[in-house]
Amino acid sequence: SAAEKGGYDYFMLKEIAEQPKAVADTLLGRIGTDGRLTLDELRIDDSVLREIDKVVIVACGTAFHAGMIAKYAIEHWTRVPCEVEVASEFRYRDPILDAQTLVIAISQSGETMDTLMALRHAREQGAKVLAICNTNGSTIPRESDAVLYTHAGPEVAVASTKAFLTQLVACYLVALYLGQVRGTKWGDEIVEIIHQLADAPRQVEQVLETMEPVRELARSLADAKSVLFLGRHVGFPVALEGALKLKELAYMHAEGFAAGELKHGPIALIEEGLPVVVVVPSPRGRSVLHDKIVSNIQEIRARGARTLVIAEEGDEAVVPYADHLVRIPQTPTLLQPLVATVPLQVFACELATAKGHEVDQPRNLAKSVTVE
Ligand code: AGP
Repeated sequence: SAAEKGGYDYFMLKEIAEQPKAVADTLLGRIGTDGRLTLDELRIDDSVLREIDKVVIVACGTAFHAGMIAKYAIEHWTRVPCEVEVASEFRYRDPILDAQTLVIAISQSGETMDTLMALRHAREQGAKVLAICNTNGSTIPRESDAVLYTHAGPEVAVASTKAFLTQLVACYLVALYLGQVRGTKWGDEIVEIIHQLADAPRQVEQVLETMEPVRELARSLADAKSVLFLGRHVGFPVALEGALKLKELAYMHAEGFAAGELKHGPIALIEEGLPVVVVVPSPRGRSVLHDKIVSNIQEIRARGARTLVIAEEGDEAVVPYADHLVRIPQTPTLLQPLVATVPLQVFACELATAKGHEVDQPRNLAKSVTVE
């Protein structure tokens, strides 16, 4: 009913709008005023977390994209090696796991069969399993050694939005907590990250307030045959997520690439007028990466692509190459997915609406996939 949708036409629109609150709820009570983290509900002892020598993340679909981003954060902040794999492939390749492995299973519903089977396999091998989940008391957290709930509230639309952003927050918290218990040097970077993370709800709100041009652009692309998404570093999984949203909702061909891979093949796809969305990392700090993606944008535009550039406020280098420019707030690159994903959600939702599709219930899809 309209009331259930809180006045929005679709649950997806409501859930996109709820993201600032969802992110705030995931953070609630977990960052102390001294910048130290408390994850009380983790039933894994700190001594166990100090002993682990590998993290393995398993998840499906959008949750898998959150896991890909988590890998960048975990390895950079904790120096613990981290692998990430789609849950449906995991147990079939006989992965190497033991009591020193921390497996993180990410799932909104907590009922995804592929993820459940992966975690059962991991536990059989003696690994410790931590679930990052949005649904209280669901099967995945019940069968895990520990759980960190995302507290996003119920997600009804098939296309995951607020669950994704809160999975990211939970992953960042786990990564920082691992660093804290393992005695990672708590330098200025981490202090800044924690500060920025606390500010994420406000930044997401800010992005939501500026989405009208994105909606307009989406409507103008309703007849496009295909859309490509490019990113580097954590912008790569964001690109994959943007493409997945468009496939699910608009039934369009969409693909995400690591921008550095372009020259190894995908650049052959670029033709006159092809819409290409590019997620640009912050020019501050890791500027080498930024410069490289600017030349990627230049290259595709020279070959006729219509570029939709998502870049930080104040990033002037991208301006000459952007046919359309979407500004996101300044934030450290590792946290950028929290703000960079939002325009891609809005884009896919609006494009699907323009095509007359059922946004909350796309064809052939179920909210939770309880078969392998
Ligand atoms: C996301 O938009 C999808 N509907 C889908 O990829 C989903 O993220 C995936 O099936 C995993 O679901 P889960 O988080 O409930 O395990």
